[in-house]
Parts: sequence; structure tokens; C-alpha cells
Amino acid sequence: MKEILEELKKDEESINTLEGLDEFKVKYTGKKGLITELSINMKSIPNEEKKEYGMKLNELKQEYNRFYEEKKSLLEKAIIDAKLESERIDVTLPSTSIPTGSPSILESVVEDIEEFMMSMGYDVVDGPEVESDKYNFELLNVYKGHPARDAQDTFYVEGDEYLLRSQTSPVQARTMIAKGGNEPIRMICPGKTYRRDNDDATHSHQFTQIEGLVVDKNISLSDLKGTFEVLMKHLFGNDVEVRLRPSFYPFTEPSVELDVSCFSCQGKGCNICKNTGWITICGAGIVHPNVLKMCGYDPSIWTGFAFGFGAERVAMLKYGVEDLRVFYNTDLREMPSFDRKEKDND
Ligand code: DAH
Repeated sequence: MKEILEELKKDEESINTLEGLDEFKVKYTGKKGLITELSINMKSIPNEEKKEYGMKLNELKQEYNRFYEEKKSLLEKAIIDAKLESERIDVTLPSTSIPTGSPSILESVVEDIEEFMMSMGYDVVDGPEVESDKYNFELLNVYKGHPARDAQDTFYVEGDEYLLRSQTSPVQARTMIAKGGNEPIRMICPGKTYRRDNDDATHSHQFTQIEGLVVDKNISLSDLKGTFEVLMKHLFGNDVEVRLRPSFYPFTEPSVELDVSCFSCQGKGCNICKNTGWITICGAGIVHPNVLKMCGYDPSIWTGFAFGFGAERVAMLKYGVEDLRVFYNTDLREMPSFDRKEKDND
């Protein structure tokens, strides 16, 4: 047994891999292992020597177990250390920049307007993009043959009955009809609209409009002006002023254009306001009695105002974008620079 203990020590020192440790295990405690055989031999040991033999064998086994466990944890630690070493990350190396996306500024402007209007009690509503002639034109007082139909070069989908809505105004009619003619309304509807325009820096065959409608009792142009004014101050700063200019829309009477004073030159004249000091944002007016009537509201009881404007135009003005086509491409190199501008403005 002494020799085996010596051998065990020598073997243990020479092991330097986990495979070597496995061989070591087989050599001593495998089926025909040296320690296993000593245990089997126990039977043939005379009784009076058994106690002594058993004690020595136990010592040997304990020695073996100690060697085995120590070596095993040493070898495993060495493997983990080597792995950590080979996977070490040099945090001082310069990083490669990872391009990240950012919210579309057009979407952000729309969401900002939605939240602001909701804070004043407006509902945000939706309507279909494929619309019927009835809602897009008829119920808005734009009867067949009306010249205003030509002004909006419309995409027709099926014959002349269905079309891609050329404005978000049909949602006015849909909302009034849904309300049944006896409830006040305060809503905006942002959404996609379509016209047969050739795409360039300021036109797109598909663009975003934000429609607004208020119906209640005793609504007047001053309500419209006040509402527009707080929205413009929210978007362009407290110093801006607003003005109304007479205009024409078939669905409003009177109709107006809503202008905001140039937030860039404070009305002195610059290239943003084309030296006029004013920027036109929005078409609007007092809802035409015919429209109220056709949509189920009695014009002798109810009055309302409505407005509609292009969200791209507002986003372009707010962020100094010169070509609206950037809103529709997904070039990541364009978008982060807008983010920075937004932060600078704050
Ligand atoms: N729908 C009009 C357009 O596309 C904008 C507009 C003008 C909407 C006056 C309105 C309104 O609701 O009252 O040019």
C-alpha cells in the first residue's frame, strides 16, 4: 500500500489536463483500479490483520479523494481563467458607432398636436383613407360639377364613386353623422391624404392633414382664432401672433386662411415668410349651414368651426426642413440631425 501511495503522489503531480485526471481516476478507482483491487483483497486478509488493513486502505482512499478534488478544482479554475483571458475586452479601444433610429419628426409633430388638443378636451378620431364621393365631397357641400373638385386632383379607385380621400374633411361629416345631431363635438383627425400632385420639395402625392371640428352652441370666429392662437404659440413660441384673411371653401361660410407671424424674423421679413412677415398655415371657417344640415345638425341651434392644415408643412417650418421628401425616406443619416435641432430649440 505504501508503494501505491507513493505512485499516487507522483501521478497526481504529473496530471495537467482534465483527460489526465480521468485516466487517474480509472487507474485507481475504476473496475480494475488499484484501490478497487485492494478493497476486493480485503476478503482474503486474515481476520487479525483486517483492522489494520482496513485503516490503511481508508487512509489511502482519503488521500486519493483529496488529490482528486484538489486537482479537479485547480484544473477547472485554470480553464475558466484561460477563457476569461482569451475573451478579455479592451474597454480602451475606440468603438465602432452603431447607427440608431429615432422617432420620425413628422410623427412627433402630429403626436405633439394630438396631445395638446386632447388637453383642451378634443377627441382624436380616425377615418378611412379609401373614401366615397359622398363623404369626401357631397356632404361637404361640394356637389358634382363644383369647381372646387378640380382644385383637388383626386385619385379615383373605382369608377367615380370611390377615391383616396383628398382631404381629412370627410371625417367631419362622419363624426357629425355618428353623433346623431344632438351632441357637441370637439375633435381632430390627423391622417393620410392623397392628391395627383407631382412630387417635389413641397408637394407629395401622399401627405398628412390634420382636420379640426368644433360644433356647439354660439361658436364664432373668435373661438376659432383663439384656438388657433394657443396651438400656434404651443408650436412656435409665445411671441407669435395670428391673423385671419378672407378665403373660400365650400364647406365653410365665412371661410378664412389662418396665418401665423413669422417666428424666425418676428415679422420683419425673411426668406421663410417670403418677406411678408406672415406664414399661412391653415384653411378654416365657420361650418356651412348646408354641411350641418346634411350631417344631421340643425343650423338654427348649432354652429361650429372647422380647420385643416398640412402636418408636413408645420414640421418643415418647425425644424427648418427644406424638402418634405425626407419625411418619407428612411435614411438614418437624415433623422438624427433633426433630433439635435429639436434639442437646440428647447
Ligand atoms: N380641406 C381643406 C384642404 O384640403 C382644408 C380645410 C379648409 C379644412 C377649411 C377645413 C376647413 O376643415 O374648414 O385644403
